[in-house]
Amino acid sequence: MRIGIPAETSAGEKRVATVPDVVEKLIKLGFTVSIQSGAGEAANFSDDTYRAAGATIVDSAAKLWAESDIVFKVSVPTKEEVGLMREGGHLIGFIWPAQNPELMQQLAAKKATVLAIDCLPRILSRAQKMDALSSQAGVAGYRAVIEAANVFDRFFSGQITAAGKVPPAKVFIAGAGVAGLAAISTAAGLGAIVRANDTRAEVADQVKSLGGEFVKVEYEEEGGGGGGYAKVMSEGFQQAQRNMYAKQAKEVDIIITTALIPGKPAPRLITAEMVRSMKPGSVIVDMAAERGGNCELTEPGQAVVKHGVTIVGYTDLNSRLAKQSSSLYATNLFRLTEELCKAKDGIVNVNMDDDAIRGLTVIKNGELTWPAPAPKLPAAKPVAAKPFVAPAAHGHGGGGAPVSAGKMAAIFGVAALLFLLVGAYAPAAFLGHFTVFVLACFIGYMVVWNVTPALHTPLMSVTNAISSIIAIGALVQVAPPLGFGLGRPDGWIRWLAVVGIALTAVNMFGGFAVTRRMLSMFRK
Ligand code: NAI
Repeated sequence: MRIGIPAETSAGEKRVATVPDVVEKLIKLGFTVSIQSGAGEAANFSDDTYRAAGATIVDSAAKLWAESDIVFKVSVPTKEEVGLMREGGHLIGFIWPAQNPELMQQLAAKKATVLAIDCLPRILSRAQKMDALSSQAGVAGYRAVIEAANVFDRFFSGQITAAGKVPPAKVFIAGAGVAGLAAISTAAGLGAIVRANDTRAEVADQVKSLGGEFVKVEYEEEGGGGGGYAKVMSEGFQQAQRNMYAKQAKEVDIIITTALIPGKPAPRLITAEMVRSMKPGSVIVDMAAERGGNCELTEPGQAVVKHGVTIVGYTDLNSRLAKQSSSLYATNLFRLTEELCKAKDGIVNVNMDDDAIRGLTVIKNGELTWPAPAPKLPAAKPVAAKPFVAPAAHGHGGGGAPVSAGKMAAIFGVAALLFLLVGAYAPAAFLGHFTVFVLACFIGYMVVWNVTPALHTPLMSVTNAISSIIAIGALVQVAPPLGFGLGRPDGWIRWLAVVGIALTAVNMFGGFAVTRRMLSMFRK
């Protein structure tokens, strides 16, 4: 089959649906690839690089659409583009079926098979490699920080120079989805103090592991609305959140908002009053500008200065990093093509029994198949809204209700009494072991509790490796007689010890290797 890539026609769209490196991979899957002349120019991919990768350059959009069995696109196709499509053809790209019912009818009339990359069920972990929403949001989150740095008139990092001390910039990120997390790591990488908030409490650890501080809203309500997305919060929560955001607005220099609830207008988080309270020269980047904006004063597509604060509402952050966005998008579409063409024979098979493919397919041979049923996953337990109870002390990792001082005293009292009884009646030999046991529990607790949750898995693998110290026992069994009472054991015990050493060596070397790989993920 022939895959065609037309030049994008939407105003300001600089991305292209495939890149030369990916063309080569598509050809290896058995496809032929055509690309409209100049399609990659705005993303700095010339016709020559596509030609060198094995693609055919086609002069006109009409010819390209007519010749292609499958068209890869970035932006939602226009009416004119659908008009050029061949009957019964395939189309893969952003479609947003809920927002574009007319387009869906037009495509159905063409008897097309349409895979909307925006409909990928993101909760399926094996679908991550095809997740273009995430790859594009990650690039946009990075770019949002760069746009902020471009208009902010100070350093991000704190510095001590001969000319004086420079404080670090304070950045607040509203919404820690994919874009928000990318913004956190970029701003932290530039040296800023980063704080973030999200309605989904489970992202707090991710925020911390990227160098940010999670700022909690003082109201307890579960923010997950299913599928890894947020829901509209109760009025009580919203009020508590507004109070917290108002406090942050006065303190920070830069706010980057990324909050979004699928199928709903973007939540209004930054009021005009909050903007007015910010320091002159502060910056707001509103990534949700296209969906109504998280800030009341945002003007979509524009950077405006209001009350001394620059409010950036660009809706083309991906096109501002067109080469990077195109490369990642092209890889997402390639991974999807691999799933569609498992036989590597250049023919796609839209398998509706596959959860990921079913979710993506919005029209099959002219028949509307959108919306797809939700993929089967265990449902999350709903949590009712209730007022926030302030924790008694700073809690590590959260979880569990705070314990009152009286209860704590009672627990310690009972524990002390038990120890007294053990000390009075237990035999002396037992007491020695018991003391070591209690101290080991205490030290283990202190060590593990002070490790950030993100590092718990590497900690487990290194503990696993260290536990292989039992190899020493087996080594003693195979070693020559040592003289001090340890004779050489029988043949079969020695062979058993050799097997033991081999098995524990896997544990030991494997454990250290896994730890090393995991820790390197946290290193810059
Ligand atoms: P996402 O859906 O993964 O993340 C949105 C996050 O906001 C979620 O973590 C959600 O829990 C959180 N959220 C929702 N309501 C909230 C509230 N009231 N308070 C605090 N947090 C709240 O979306 P993703 O993929 O991270 O994208 C983020 C935004 O960036 C979206 O609005 C998207 O449309 C936009 N975007 C903008 C681009 C541009 O050029 N301006 C380009 C790419 C993405």
